Amino acid sequence: MRLKRTRQELRRRLWIPALATLALVLAACSTESGPRNRQNALRPEGKYAEKIDNLFGPVFWVSVLVGALVIGATVGIAIKYRVRKGEDVRPKQTHGSTPLEIGWTIVPAVILLIVAIPTVSTIFSLANEPKNALEVHVIGKQWWWEFEYPRSDDGTKVVTANEMHIPTGRDIVLDLEACDESLPGGAELSDGTTTPGCNVIHSFWVPELGGKRDVVPGHHNQMKLFADEPGEYLGQCAEYCGLSHANMRFRVIAQSPSDFDSWLASQRDDPAVALSDAGDAEKLFTTKFQCTNCHTTENPALSTYGPNLTHLRSRGTFASGYYELTRKQLIRWILDAPSLIPMQSELCRLPPPATCVGMPSFTKNTPNGDTKKYPTMTRREAEILADYLLSLE
Ligand code: CUA
Repeated sequence: MRLKRTRQELRRRLWIPALATLALVLAACSTESGPRNRQNALRPEGKYAEKIDNLFGPVFWVSVLVGALVIGATVGIAIKYRVRKGEDVRPKQTHGSTPLEIGWTIVPAVILLIVAIPTVSTIFSLANEPKNALEVHVIGKQWWWEFEYPRSDDGTKVVTANEMHIPTGRDIVLDLEACDESLPGGAELSDGTTTPGCNVIHSFWVPELGGKRDVVPGHHNQMKLFADEPGEYLGQCAEYCGLSHANMRFRVIAQSPSDFDSWLASQRDDPAVALSDAGDAEKLFTTKFQCTNCHTTENPALSTYGPNLTHLRSRGTFASGYYELTRKQLIRWILDAPSLIPMQSELCRLPPPATCVGMPSFTKNTPNGDTKKYPTMTRREAEILADYLLSLE
């Protein structure tokens, strides 16, 4: 009796936390009218994302129907034919039923066929080669994204990081890859050239503008984006790729075609301040802390191991789109980046062939406390570097 009461009480008490948890989980679902989380595949903002959403909706409801029927039948039958008190009879055993066997073979086949027709047609329609598309070359690195724009008439391309600008109303074809000359690990050939080094598998995903596609070393994958309206769309690496996979973000900035053209033209410009005119920053950047091993501030067309910084100030964020680009944040980053985003960068200040990933700490003075060879950075030095980088519009 007492046990029964306790159980009832327990059940009553569990209602409240269960409801609270449900409310919390449902709060993550934003609706059409709710606040825009900018990473919502159910809220497409362009024709390719719309096509995927148009397929997802019907397939989802077919799945709900099938799930409800199967679970309902299972539970219903279990309740109806349960062993009742005092009943101790083995139920009647039947073996095989031709109508049933035929039925449960044909019905799922028909359901799959119904789902397959729009699926295959969407796959084909997404694979069409669009005319007059802008091709952007996307390279997945640990843990950030590099974007390369096609060469202009004078043969220069534009290389930027973590913020991909696109024009609205135009097809964007992405050429996704995970290998390039700036990555370590390439092999030297007999003719003196080097094969590209390769990164790991990443996955490129901008939920509101298109699908999701893996970025695979040694393989070029294609995918298309389309934005109806100007705006900022959030993207995220969607394939586990190491320590900072979760921080491997980016954003797509869709602009009117004329705004996009002027952005692209400004990215082709020489740096606003030449390194040789950068005063104290020059020595710090090139010699003392050897930032030039991984970055360039001089050539907007160069793909480098770390992000190309020639026009850093034109970006709103840095560190794979994780931090807003402010002086305060940049100084913290220059001093001790691994404390802001986890990276495997303990060996990054050792000369090659030490392999490392990411930006080293200049205050913790890894590796091995060898302070003579690897100078520690003062706050003043970080300020000088940050001010120089922030002058690069
Ligand atoms: Cu790149 Cu996960």
